[in-house]
Amino acid sequence: MSKLWGGRFDKPTDTLLERFNASIGFDWRLYAADIAGSIAYARALERVGILTTDEAMAIVDGLQAVKAEFDAGTFTILPSDEDIHTAVERRLGERIGAPAGKLHTGRSRNDQVATDVRLYLLGQIPVLRDHVRGLQRALVDKAEAHLGVLMPGYTHLQPAQPILFSHWLMSFFWMLQRDVERLDDLTRRVAVLPLGSAALAGNPFGIDRDALAAELGFARLSENSLDAVSDRDCIAELLFWAALLQTHLSRLAEDLILYATAEFGFVELDDAYSTGSSIMPQKKNPDSLELARGKTGRVVGNLVALLTTLKGLPSSYDKDLQEDKEPLFDTLDTLELELPIVAGVIRTLRIHPERMAAALRDDLLATELADYLVRQGVPFRQGHHIVGQAVRLAGERGCGLRDLTVDDYRSLSPYFGDDVHGVLDFRRAIEQRSVPGGTATAAVKAQIEAAKALLGE
Ligand code: ARG
Repeated sequence: MSKLWGGRFDKPTDTLLERFNASIGFDWRLYAADIAGSIAYARALERVGILTTDEAMAIVDGLQAVKAEFDAGTFTILPSDEDIHTAVERRLGERIGAPAGKLHTGRSRNDQVATDVRLYLLGQIPVLRDHVRGLQRALVDKAEAHLGVLMPGYTHLQPAQPILFSHWLMSFFWMLQRDVERLDDLTRRVAVLPLGSAALAGNPFGIDRDALAAELGFARLSENSLDAVSDRDCIAELLFWAALLQTHLSRLAEDLILYATAEFGFVELDDAYSTGSSIMPQKKNPDSLELARGKTGRVVGNLVALLTTLKGLPSSYDKDLQEDKEPLFDTLDTLELELPIVAGVIRTLRIHPERMAAALRDDLLATELADYLVRQGVPFRQGHHIVGQAVRLAGERGCGLRDLTVDDYRSLSPYFGDDVHGVLDFRRAIEQRSVPGGTATAAVKAQIEAAKALLGE
């Protein structure tokens, strides 16, 4: 009697179906959550008189011993262990005998697995959060260390206006800050207890669900048993959360890959985060960042896989829902490896301020000239047009905006004065933008201070 459900069957399961049906190959990692849920459930059964105190104690002790086997790596999974729930109950029976057969009273694997995954997630979320925080800290530290460095800012990947390198770094801090906030928000919806929903209709023994929730660290009870056994919304939310975080990591990676090219040369990755080529001896490739970009396909795919599984499912539990776990585990594994690597790339990144300075072309200052005219009372649209002509003139002469003379400027507009060259200064352009959220040193410092406060420094 190795199956939990063999009673009504005459024939053994087709061997291929047995493999197809089994989830133990991946859901074994729910063992600690499964056992914690069962311990709480045994105590709840004792409280309603289904288990004697001795039986409950035997079950709790037995479950703790089974957990110790898993922890020590000595638990042997048998081919007949369909899933983690079967494996734990089978082993409990081997260890304590008859009382093990009472544990599943009034419970179903449907409310059990839904509870297990939520418990597991409640354990993983702080780990993920710490990893995101680690990357945020690396960004802030770097932004603080290189506060004086200027670089070209781009739109459409075309040189646009000068910015502080720290402003660029901090832009990713705030993306990640939204990720942290989203994670905290979705955690409230993970911490909802399904246990006591049984197969679909609810527990018939008056089990104290509030006590179960308190013991297992859930904040609320699910309100409807039909919904509870099939609700995978919090997994979908976690996968969306991860997909958006991955999108942010991918954008960070893309910028850095570009900035690390020979052509840009703004930054250089540490050897520890680069790899070489098997044929070209000179190569130092940013594989760490390419994979951080490349993993986005997998993580977005995991979200789409789950949503596709959920779509059109009939009410309450369906076995399709077993397909929730591999995308979830894969996404968690991916991020838990990737986030510390990206943080390491940032922490060890070498900066080449001279290369950034060399890329500051005069036309990045065109807006300064238009703003100059505005301050002389010229409407911005008109000023924009006049400066466009100045850019064209400089282009024709093969020189920069700073090389045009006062007379050149005057020939385009009488509003240009002798002081026109004063605005053609990269640092000045940056310091003009002192609004909150702007790239001026003081504004970036304020960002860094706000960021540090969020990181709890
Ligand atoms: N391995 C199953 C899953 O992950 C456990 C629940 C099985 N429930 C059932 N009614 N067969 O969904």
